[in-house]
Amino acid sequence: MQKAVLVTGANRGLGLELIRQLSQAERPPRYLFAACREPEGARGRDLKNLAKCVSNIKIVKMDVDDLDSIQASAEEIQKVLKNDGLNLVINNAGININGGLNEVTPEIMMKTHKTNVVGPMMVTKAFLPALLKAAHQSDEPGLSSKKAAVINMSSIMGSVESFNIEHGKAYAYRISKAALNMVTKCLTNELTPHGILCASVHPGWVKTDMGGEKAPLTKEESIQGLIRVLSKLSDNDNGSFLDWRGERILW
Ligand SMILES: NC(=O)c1ccc[n+]([C@@H]2O[C@H](COP(=O)([O-])OP(=O)(O)OC[C@H]3O[C@@H](n4cnc5c(N)ncnc54)[C@H](OP(=O)(O)O)[C@@H]3O)[C@@H](O)[C@H]2O)c1
Repeated sequence: MQKAVLVTGANRGLGLELIRQLSQAERPPRYLFAACREPEGARGRDLKNLAKCVSNIKIVKMDVDDLDSIQASAEEIQKVLKNDGLNLVINNAGININGGLNEVTPEIMMKTHKTNVVGPMMVTKAFLPALLKAAHQSDEPGLSSKKAAVINMSSIMGSVESFNIEHGKAYAYRISKAALNMVTKCLTNELTPHGILCASVHPGWVKTDMGGEKAPLTKEESIQGLIRVLSKLSDNDNGSFLDWRGERILW
């Protein structure tokens, strides 16, 4: 297991479930940084309750739309880590404002792009020194999420090659996840020589506030699968797009 992991959007849905399952792993990370934008409000309650029972969960305030907030959380986390690096960044925070051509507006496009694309990029940039440190300190051979990795929570809705209208029109969301996949590719190109693995993942269609009640998968099932996939990532998976079962998804 990794020594230090960061999950964004960790106060509900898949982010909270990631923190919950990682904290209960046989060998949990020494530091589990659970980032959310309102830790003090009602939205942070479930995460705070979980953190009360688990000593390795550190809640950090981070709005991925706000560069100052990202940088402040990077400084806070580095203070906790001292000379240690950060092994795994999971860019999970995301929004989905549904709608087709009739509904979509420039504002919806820009807002979705900011959270789903610019956010993960700026988070990765802010935590790059900590990721590089982890890669440098590790004696793991090859690339892995144990050593240093950036995982972008994408969606099959962002796949151009397996476009399926039954998944919904969702222009802004689809386009943002396709762009996020390109972020994964660009990061892979730049970070591989430094020992940092990058991948996009699709968690399946999951019952959360975003996925809705009709979704076939529970958070528990999806995250169990994803954690298994993350734990097995190697050089062969670098720069790939995988689902929660470890199956490749067409770009
Ligand atoms: N559920 C699915 O079926 C499904 C399928 C494919 C991909 N995904 C992806 O999986 C990820 C998690 O989805 P989910 O189903 O758990 O969604 P969710 O239940 O709607 O939760 C979204 C999370 O993102 C956070 N967030 C949104 N904007 C943020 C910002 N600006 N800064 C920080 N945090 C922010 C939310 O925090 P607040 O509480 O503060 O709003 C919340 O914690 C998303 O990237 C989503 O696109 C989900």
